[in-house]
Amino acid sequence: MTTPVLLPMFSQLLLLFSLMSLSNAAETSDYTTFIECLVKNSSPDDQASVSSIVYSPQNSSFNSVLQAYIKNKRFNTSATPKPAIIVTATKESHVQNTVICAKNMGIQLKIRSGGHDYDGISYVSDTTFIILDLFNIRKIDVNIATETAVVEAGATLGELYYRIWEKSDVHGFPAGVCPTVGVGGHLSGGGYGNMLRKFGLSVDNVIDARIVDVNGKILDRKSMGEDLFWAIRGGGGASFGVILSYTIQLVKVPKITTVFRVMRSLDENATDIVHRYQFVVDKLDDGLFIRMLLQPVSGKVKGQKTIRATFIGMFLGDSSTLKGIMDKGFPELGLKKEDYSEMSWIRSVMWWANFDNTTSLDTLLSRNSDGVNFLKRKSDYVQTPIPKDGLESIWKKMVELGKVGFVLNPYGGKMSEISSSATPFPHRAGNIYKLQYSVNWHEEGAEADKNYMSQIRSLYSFMTPYVSSSPRGAFLNYRDLDIGVSDHGKDSYTEGQVYGEKYFGANFDRLVKVKSAVDPENFFRNEQSIPVKVMQSRRLKK
Ligand SMILES: Cc1cc2nc3c(=O)[nH]c(=O)nc-3n(C[C@H](O)[C@H](O)[C@H](O)COP(=O)(O)OP(=O)(O)OC[C@H]3O[C@@H](n4cnc5c(N)ncnc54)[C@H](O)[C@@H]3O)c2cc1C
Ligand SMILES: *[C@@H]1O[C@H](CO)[C@@H](O)[C@H](O)[C@H]1NC(C)=O
Ligand SMILES: *[C@@H]1O[C@H](CO)[C@@H](O)[C@H](O)[C@H]1NC(C)=O
Ligand SMILES: *[C@@H]1O[C@H](CO)[C@@H](O)[C@H](O)[C@H]1NC(C)=O
Ligand SMILES: *[C@@H]1O[C@H](CO)[C@@H](O)[C@H](O)[C@H]1NC(C)=O
Repeated sequence: MTTPVLLPMFSQLLLLFSLMSLSNAAETSDYTTFIECLVKNSSPDDQASVSSIVYSPQNSSFNSVLQAYIKNKRFNTSATPKPAIIVTATKESHVQNTVICAKNMGIQLKIRSGGHDYDGISYVSDTTFIILDLFNIRKIDVNIATETAVVEAGATLGELYYRIWEKSDVHGFPAGVCPTVGVGGHLSGGGYGNMLRKFGLSVDNVIDARIVDVNGKILDRKSMGEDLFWAIRGGGGASFGVILSYTIQLVKVPKITTVFRVMRSLDENATDIVHRYQFVVDKLDDGLFIRMLLQPVSGKVKGQKTIRATFIGMFLGDSSTLKGIMDKGFPELGLKKEDYSEMSWIRSVMWWANFDNTTSLDTLLSRNSDGVNFLKRKSDYVQTPIPKDGLESIWKKMVELGKVGFVLNPYGGKMSEISSSATPFPHRAGNIYKLQYSVNWHEEGAEADKNYMSQIRSLYSFMTPYVSSSPRGAFLNYRDLDIGVSDHGKDSYTEGQVYGEKYFGANFDRLVKVKSAVDPENFFRNEQSIPVKVMQSRRLKK
């Protein structure tokens, strides 16, 4: 009488096997369909190379290719959803055909340049998806005669700075301080660095672009038109197409720059100095940028925490000029002559990236020169100085939470001169500084994740009375899915409005207009993309 027992087991096994082969077949068929489509759309010369740029999870190097540009350990776990396919495009036609084929198959496309998105949306998705990885598309062509450069999306900022310096030591470009950040995400999302008070954002210095649109066509500034060109300078590239390259205007930097880094703890009058910082930092000479870090650190008494303020300064000029500016404009910081270090602009780039002055400049060409942590970031804008009692309550909260810190980046100067509608980035005049909430951790696992995420959210909530409101501002490049996401259903416009007005203020509606015109079926979409006004999307594969 064994049959009645065996039979159900056997049929369960059968079911299991058929399910397994079904899911394998589904994966294989996406891969095969995609390859076939790429081949069909490729020129005869290109057809043979197609299979060498497309990876499915069955390929042995799938994981290493995927992980190479994961810059947040939170999204490097076995639970992180993985793409069905990765395309490592080596030429523009690969990009064009990937767009065409992903669209034909109704599969979501995620575009990755440097992979620094703080919430990982260039390489993670809840739905079936393809990663279009652009690290091979990274030529940089610097032209000193015209003071311009064409930089492809997959290049890093370090590579860009190095290539400029190779040709001229009196030219630079205003962009971020982390050399491994990708140009594609950074410039399309705004891009700021330590020269923003003098030259504005990266996007204020972009003069042309090449983009692959939803039909797989390559457009430049002239053929895309001024609306789309406006949108991809701060509105995020991924809502509109695949950026292939930007043409940038280089800026003049002096032969000598001066930097300083000093720390002040609460018993060295940090509260007074931080308070004062808010009244002067956006009004000092435009060539001077003073970032401030606020962190909970161990105090003198064992087991007790206190707050430390670190002032990191950069001046486009020599130390005696800077000393004059600081002595007059911000004497409370108490800088001494020995606090100032003079160096070339390219050495200041290295200094900001925490390399000492003996490290070779070639390090800027290394695409993995940074360590990768578990991390979370959020952002706010401060428009009115926080009073001393406010600062004291914030210190208390930070000590209580234990690990979350702030990075303050001052505005003013050129940032105040540019109209808030000149680019999609709206946070111009009226903002004293941008506040980044920052927490990094090393512990693995869901418990740690939950703990640190809740710390940073708690501080964000605590800060409500001190920061911009209606809408509460946020910086797109400090991606934060907490402030709202879209599921691209019938409510996508109102969902988009929630995060869109934080990132773009009154520019949100113009972005929606551009989006609706260039991608009416909403193919280029992600958790925080710009919605179309009237949803015409086909049923998308879940
Ligand atoms: C260590 C670190 C330091 C940072 N420092 C700064 C800083 O100093 N200043 C600053 O402004 N920001 C800074 N950021 C934020 C950074 O600018 C953004 O994360 C930026 O989006 C990263 O670009 P990426 O190409 O590396 O990222 P990715 O993760 O590849 O892309 C980010 C977003 O852009 C989209 N995208 C990428 N490439 C393209 C493309 N070619 N076409 C269309 N869409 C594209 C992606 O789909 C995704 O939505 C920093 C981030 C990190 C992790
Ligand atoms: C992935 O595996 C397939 C099947 O073995 C192979 O044809 C293809 O060349 C591999 N792709 C890469 C990029 O190695
Ligand atoms: C991701 O995890 C793998 C192991 O699964 C590891 O080898 C790799 O270094 C990790 N990458 C990052 C960026 O943490
Ligand atoms: C702190 O401020 C007081 C008065 O404003 C001053 O006397 C004192 O020297 C300052 N301490 C430091 C370490 O700067
Ligand atoms: C390098 O830095 C050290 C201090 O860290 C300093 O003493 C030295 O003068 C610097 N060298 C150059 C060439 O700037």
